[in-house]
Amino acid sequence: MMTDATTRVDLTRSLEIYERARKLIPGTTQLISRRPTRAALGFSPIYAQSASGCRITDVDGNEFIDWYSAVGPIILGYANEVVDEAVKAQIDRGSVYSIVHESSVELAELLVRIVPSAEMVRYAKGGGEACTMAVRIARGVTGRDKVLFSGYHGWHDWYLAANLGAERLAGHLFNGIDPVGVPRALEGTAVPFEYGDLQHLEDLLQANDGDVAAIIMEPMRTELPAAGYLEGVRALADRHGVVLIFDEVSCGWRISLGGVQEVVGVTPDLTVFAKAISNGYPMAAVVGRRHVMEPVANMFISSAYWDDNIGIAAALATIKELERIDAPALFGRLGATFRERVDGAAQAAGCPAQCVGAAAHPRIQFDVTAEQAPKVATLFVQENARHGVILAGGLFFNTAHDDVEALDRTEAAVRASFAVIADGLQRDCLDDLIECEMVEESFRRLVT
Ligand SMILES: Cc1ncc(COP(=O)(O)O)c(C=O)c1O
Repeated sequence: MMTDATTRVDLTRSLEIYERARKLIPGTTQLISRRPTRAALGFSPIYAQSASGCRITDVDGNEFIDWYSAVGPIILGYANEVVDEAVKAQIDRGSVYSIVHESSVELAELLVRIVPSAEMVRYAKGGGEACTMAVRIARGVTGRDKVLFSGYHGWHDWYLAANLGAERLAGHLFNGIDPVGVPRALEGTAVPFEYGDLQHLEDLLQANDGDVAAIIMEPMRTELPAAGYLEGVRALADRHGVVLIFDEVSCGWRISLGGVQEVVGVTPDLTVFAKAISNGYPMAAVVGRRHVMEPVANMFISSAYWDDNIGIAAALATIKELERIDAPALFGRLGATFRERVDGAAQAAGCPAQCVGAAAHPRIQFDVTAEQAPKVATLFVQENARHGVILAGGLFFNTAHDDVEALDRTEAAVRASFAVIADGLQRDCLDDLIECEMVEESFRRLVT
């Protein structure tokens, strides 16, 4: 791995495959966050050969310390033995059958034991479809159509409908999302509210009195909610007879195994989990209170792979392992060390950067102007990749990050990256230092 400040990691094979992909796969990847154009194209690896723990080896044979954890799903490290053994054992018994397997009930029992809002459970495969399921349930139970939301909840029509008419997703996702293909008839059915602003939510509930089926929100991203905020949301939902849904797809499992709801003591009616629930095997769950979930038996909510036993085996093994090692405590300790090292490196380099947010789920923030911000973000990814580290402002810990060599390499990399950024800021020459295309605007949510 090259670490010279003037050279690049050799990505010849990655770039060759990328050219093939550009002709065949619109957008080149299935998840927008994995698009090479979003990660310092020409510096970051594009195609993986393999991954283990917190390290990815690319098709050119370069090894990177990866802090992105597959954009969240990897929580016990890549190729975790405990989870993979459970999955392999299930493969040997068959993946999905014409009938179901007892493990589906076992996982439901486990979720009901751990998650405060869980009295009944349904499964899905991805976060977006599980959010869509939760919204359908809320609409079915209330007989109403409108949805108030805060945060990111997937690619489906009900959510992108927010951008019909006005650019309402700009504050929650990113600018310029044209809801191409979303039926115009859905205009006005999905309305965003500003995270942290109870008055705004109350005004929307009043303006749409009797029409709102659900409030769906990310209860946190990297900052724990202000005292009383989620309690206030709960009270408003109750007052207006609205189903309250917590989308814990991204925050789930790192802060607490019972979710953010366990930490703050506010119980939603429905909760959505996906991503880290199963350490990289497709799996999602919608859990909720009995009176909201029981009617699902009479709704048409059905799909062949939702009974797949691989995801269920992976989720059972992942959650039990997270419990066994007390993962949230580990992430808290790891986060404290990470923060100390990153903040120390920024200070040493004279770079206005720091780790912010909950220790177990932080992000790195630069104190720069709005004009400088995208350039600094690009330089940070570019320079980290040059030094063999996949790290942007947003990151997801996995338990394999608890590794001295990985932390040492990361600290050295960010120290070098911060030095380049500090130089660019001081000499006002950030543009000259950027050697790749600008990193496209990343997901920006009101929930931080
Ligand atoms: C909070 C939240 N909800 C839903 C989703 C969508 O999940 P998926 O990409 O598995 O469909 C995401 C993905 O980033 C998310 O962060």
